[in-house]
Amino acid sequence: MAAYSVHGDLIWTESAGEFRTMEGGYLTVDGGKIISVSQDRPSCPVIDMAGKLVIPGLSDLHLHAPQYAFAGLYMDEELLEWLEKHTFPEEAKYGDMEYADKAYSILADDLRRGATTRVSVFGTIHTDSVLLLMKKLEEAGLSGYAGKVNMDRNSPDILREETEESIRETERFLRAAASFREIRPIITPRFIPSCSDELMEALGRIVLRDSLPVQTHLDENLSEVEWVRELCPFSSSYADAYKHFHMLGETPAIMAHCVWPVESEMEMMREGGVFVAHAPSSNTNLASGIAPVRKFMEKGIHVGLATDVAGGSSLSMFQMIHDAVSVSKLRWRLVDSSEKPLLFSEAFYLASKGGGAFFGRTGSFEPGYDADIVVIDDSRCRTVLHDQLSPAERLEFYTYRHPDEFVTAKFVKGRRLF
Ligand code: GUN
Ligand code: FE
Repeated sequence: MAAYSVHGDLIWTESAGEFRTMEGGYLTVDGGKIISVSQDRPSCPVIDMAGKLVIPGLSDLHLHAPQYAFAGLYMDEELLEWLEKHTFPEEAKYGDMEYADKAYSILADDLRRGATTRVSVFGTIHTDSVLLLMKKLEEAGLSGYAGKVNMDRNSPDILREETEESIRETERFLRAAASFREIRPIITPRFIPSCSDELMEALGRIVLRDSLPVQTHLDENLSEVEWVRELCPFSSSYADAYKHFHMLGETPAIMAHCVWPVESEMEMMREGGVFVAHAPSSNTNLASGIAPVRKFMEKGIHVGLATDVAGGSSLSMFQMIHDAVSVSKLRWRLVDSSEKPLLFSEAFYLASKGGGAFFGRTGSFEPGYDADIVVIDDSRCRTVLHDQLSPAERLEFYTYRHPDEFVTAKFVKGRRLF
């Protein structure tokens, strides 16, 4: 890939809470990597995005592909009722490849057009439709992980596997998924209540054997946490149950939600380098609670943001940045006044470099980082203030007022998608 430079108003974060900016800067890319940011015009070809915001690609650490079709519907229940009544019946339809094709085409196209460059996605239990999802995401130019979901208990007949079948299908999924380059497989037990001990033991052996990453749900909802306590009397906590099955930090792991962790669970997550996928829109819609994100950050636990579609009702990571700031203010005011609210710049960091770290070096404009770049034409934001705003203020205004609306160019690993 030949070198080029993107010229525009560059803004990124290298650490939480501090924007780096360069108005009229040149972001030079070679071999799919960031080479430099400079105020001087380089000798390579220049892509002129003058006056536009140029930001790093954003990472969605957790979403359910088969739930995108109903994102924005059925928000009157808590988690367990919502799963039974709405989610499981809809996911059961993805055994039909024609239905999956239609639905996943829409998701892949919407993701392509937005600011998200990296994803870690749940499919369903249906291996072939998950492989189709991977193909669609890869063709859309995205990078990341997708998982065949495992479920062999506490699930309706239409969405439950036999234990042996679940293990066999996971092996088949892994063999077939090896042909993809940009969307790679990740082991995906839905959550403890959906997976028998025998299935979890088998998945844990596969994780260790092939050094595979893991994604699942942890400490999302109080009834769920209580249920796991009953299901796993051998464990001292929900996180400890995952640890028991080799899924908490022996290989890279994403734990979605973590709204209700106890101290020992946070210590386990920190020690294992586990990533928390903070999903503020979902946690609000399903009345799950407010995750202690400030505590995670202070303890040095990895945190990224996630839509958790369709618990989350939007596919936009800008909306997640907005929601992460909003819920942190409520937690500070209503739950614990020692947990300072997130700054806008901190939430932006979580959506870019923070969560991006799960995928390698993405989400910043530091040399050696993958050239995941999003260009936003925020001149289309209608405010008489526009010319007086700094790049950071322009990004905040855009995030709150026009999430994902004016993305005009996007690059993943240096490759231009549009
Ligand atoms: N826990 C188990 N399955 C799910 C799901 O589909 N969405 C959410 N938000 N939590 C879950
Ligand atoms: Fe989820």
